[in-house]
Amino acid sequence: MMFNEEYLVLFFALLPVCSGATATIPIKRTTIRFKFDGWQLYNKHAGAFQQPEPFTASIDLSWSDMFVPSAECLQDPATAPHCQRHNKYNSSLSTTYHPNKTVTKLMYEGLSTSGHLSQDVLRVGGLDILDQQFEEATFWRTMYLNAAPLDSALGLARLQSRTPESNASTKSALRSMLDQKVLSRPVFSLRLPRRDHESSDLALGYFPSEVLAQSAIILPLIEATPPKELSQVSYYISSGYTVELESITIQSSPGNNPSGREPSTYKAVFTNSYDYISLPGTLLTEIQTNLHPNLGMDDLLADLDCSMRDELPNIVFSFSKDVVIVLTPWDYLMEVRDIEKGMRCVLPFAYLQQADDEWVVLGSAFMQGVYSAFDLENGEVSLAVLRE
Ligand SMILES: *[C@@H]1O[C@H](CO)[C@@H](O)[C@H](O)[C@H]1NC(C)=O
Ligand SMILES: *[C@@H]1O[C@H](CO)[C@@H](O)[C@H](O)[C@H]1NC(C)=O
Ligand SMILES: *[C@@H]1O[C@H](CO)[C@@H](O)[C@H](O)[C@H]1NC(C)=O
Repeated sequence: MMFNEEYLVLFFALLPVCSGATATIPIKRTTIRFKFDGWQLYNKHAGAFQQPEPFTASIDLSWSDMFVPSAECLQDPATAPHCQRHNKYNSSLSTTYHPNKTVTKLMYEGLSTSGHLSQDVLRVGGLDILDQQFEEATFWRTMYLNAAPLDSALGLARLQSRTPESNASTKSALRSMLDQKVLSRPVFSLRLPRRDHESSDLALGYFPSEVLAQSAIILPLIEATPPKELSQVSYYISSGYTVELESITIQSSPGNNPSGREPSTYKAVFTNSYDYISLPGTLLTEIQTNLHPNLGMDDLLADLDCSMRDELPNIVFSFSKDVVIVLTPWDYLMEVRDIEKGMRCVLPFAYLQQADDEWVVLGSAFMQGVYSAFDLENGEVSLAVLRE
């Protein structure tokens, strides 16, 4: 009896070391600027996974639902032209397929799908997730026809995110990896490309040594309840990457805290699902008017000649006393190629509707300027500024 018990203890103690693994997924950025009710950005970070065909997926910190186009989509003439050029999943070619058949639909960015749930092994960077539930999309329609074809989204949501237009409610790929203890350690880090065709990566199960070598700041993740009403902001909040934020200020502007705001009044959400940095209205006005004397409120979301980076100030994100990230214009301005004007630099600040003036959304404009490392065992995120 004693022997058995000791054996069991040993066995479990060894298990995580033996079973855990790591993976590195290369990420590429694709940005398209197009006119639709004014200028819009399509800015995606794409990686790949395999099942058994390789699928190209957007790597998305806020997203949960797993989906792929089904080979069955070719049978419907209405949807066939839309899924033609995508990699497709054919369940009859898989020995590990389990049907579920629950009818589902979802909306992801400009993509609208419907189909049914299936389960199969999902392979991400050589790591196998067993019985991952996903929507096998038999209907597929996307508004970004000229964008790089994305077959799916690889969700990195820590918690089940609340996506208003979707009812598939599958676990995120990350959630499955954590629940199945696929990773050596429940950690991942993201380095997002700042330009198209620049390569970067998602590290699963370990922190690359470059991150550890950089002087990083460490922030505790806080439990944040999203507002009841379904909105873009509540979707980002629901994925589970919120921290406290004291202030955002323009470096070296006289009177750094003009409104004399109390510290710790904001909650900041990390996401790369959103291109900009969304601020509460009052803070947005303050930052926008201080950013550059020649930029008025009309320039909200506007693009600039990239040579203006020399004149623009740094922006200081103060999470708590002495815990700051300073982004230079080279970090926070997104480079975008414009058909008419050539290379342009897009201003990072925007406004997302919110009832209480407390939410800051640190979207891609912020995330692309830092190395972010998420430690879900200790509930904290480390940020280090990338310097070229
Ligand atoms: C799936 O693959 C099988 C075997 O190659 C093929 O017969 C079948 O038509 C495919 N299914 C669909 C929906 O394309
Ligand atoms: C399909 O998946 C749903 C959601 O996980 C589950 O509740 C249901 O029991 C499953 N149905 C079958 C037939 O496996
Ligand atoms: C999802 O929505 C579709 C279309 O409205 C519906 O047919 C389907 O039953 C819903 N599925 C679930 C799981 O609620």
